[in-house]
Amino acid sequence: MRLFSPAKLNLFFRVLKKRPDGYHEIESLYQAIDLGDYLTFSIGKEQLTCTDPTLPCDQSNLILKAANLFRKKSGLEFGLQVHLEKNIPIQAGLGGGSSNAATTLWALNVLTGANVGVEKLKEWGAELGSDVSFFFSGGTAFCRGRGEIIEEMEPLPRLQGYLAKPPVGLSTPAVYQRVALPLPLSDQAFFNDLEPAAFSLMPELAELKDALYGMGFEQVTMTGSGTAFFCQGNVADPVLDGVRFIPVKAIQRSDWY
Ligand code: C5P
Repeated sequence: MRLFSPAKLNLFFRVLKKRPDGYHEIESLYQAIDLGDYLTFSIGKEQLTCTDPTLPCDQSNLILKAANLFRKKSGLEFGLQVHLEKNIPIQAGLGGGSSNAATTLWALNVLTGANVGVEKLKEWGAELGSDVSFFFSGGTAFCRGRGEIIEEMEPLPRLQGYLAKPPVGLSTPAVYQRVALPLPLSDQAFFNDLEPAAFSLMPELAELKDALYGMGFEQVTMTGSGTAFFCQGNVADPVLDGVRFIPVKAIQRSDWY
């Protein structure tokens, strides 16, 4: 069974407060995009392989964590063989690992015949990571709590642009640790409250954002905890030293599993 595992963008991202459990309360508009990985699953000897040699394929990988969780929750015993074709940049704020975890839960639900409802899969997904539940939504969602409380929104079929991905990456906990609260309220449609934290860890990201505006993009916003930026506006074939530009557009749930 081969499934598409899409990336996500955050069109806006508000950080409200730090919670006693260490997580931050957020409000964000999430959108699934046509950039994604492909995962091939079969029941057999438990094994994960990946086209990207830099990605750990051990028990720290969310795909194997998802398989463990599915075994625990369903009470079923099986081995899972997975091959991951990795296209989503890592440490980019694009939700690649979370998406892979959601895809694994979905595949196991089908392959084992467990036939668990999608609301249960959302719940189980939230135990693996704050962004996992979103990938069981319709593709455009207002997410609250840690990110796992999902309100479906109208699709944004015309949304498109470029991702700009610098060679550097950022770890999500490191960025959240740098957030200085309270933050000033943004009155913009597109913003990301994690930008100041990410920019203080990596000042070159602020320079990149300026350079992207300098190229003529009308709206440049970091996605999630970075380091990728979503760039909107009329720029044909953008080129910038060391930066990977990926054309992306919004997709809806019917476009993936
Ligand atoms: O939920 P997930 O495992 O993806 O989160 C990784 C880390 O990011 C958490 O351990 C926490 O430090 C931080 N985080 C946060 N607030 C959120 C989501 C993540 O502080 N809403």
